[in-house]
Amino acid sequence: MYAPSAGNEQAWEFIVIRDKTIHRKICDVHPNAKALLTCDTAIVVCGNLKEQKYPVDYWVLDCSLAGGNIMLEAYELGVGSVWLSVYPNKYRSENIKKILALPPEISPLCVIAMGYAAEASPAPENRFRESKIHRETW
Ligand SMILES: Cc1cc2nc3c(=O)[nH]c(=O)nc-3n(C[C@H](O)[C@H](O)[C@H](O)COP(=O)(O)O)c2cc1C
Repeated sequence: MYAPSAGNEQAWEFIVIRDKTIHRKICDVHPNAKALLTCDTAIVVCGNLKEQKYPVDYWVLDCSLAGGNIMLEAYELGVGSVWLSVYPNKYRSENIKKILALPPEISPLCVIAMGYAAEASPAPENRFRESKIHRETW
């Protein structure tokens, strides 16, 4: 909730789910969400469209920053996490709204599956690419 947001609108809501029945239901409508079968906790990061200050979808950006911060904090606490995308897939969004009984103004952005890793993570690869950084102009 300390993530930056457009005009400080903080147009987010967080649904913490530990019930495996609900994890499985989400997995049934999301083809790439197997992490939910073995995770401990899932946090569904949602936008609250009624709390938006501007007539554009800044909720997506607000919630992405909040979700990223959740993952960084989880890492800091030794908890593994993976981002399972919902937005902008309409099928996943509509079904997850039904499963979680979300009001019409609440739009799910992603599900973050979290838990203590069963195996030690491999050493992180080096993803730094100098060529991706452009200075002053392209
Ligand atoms: C916008 C976005 C959507 C993603 N969707 C999924 C997903 O639906 N299922 C999944 O297992 N991982 C998903 N991921 C996780 C990526 O696959 C993962 O971050 C990437 O492979 C890099 O791996 P790492 O995060 O472990 O470094 C998503 C990540 C992002 C940022």
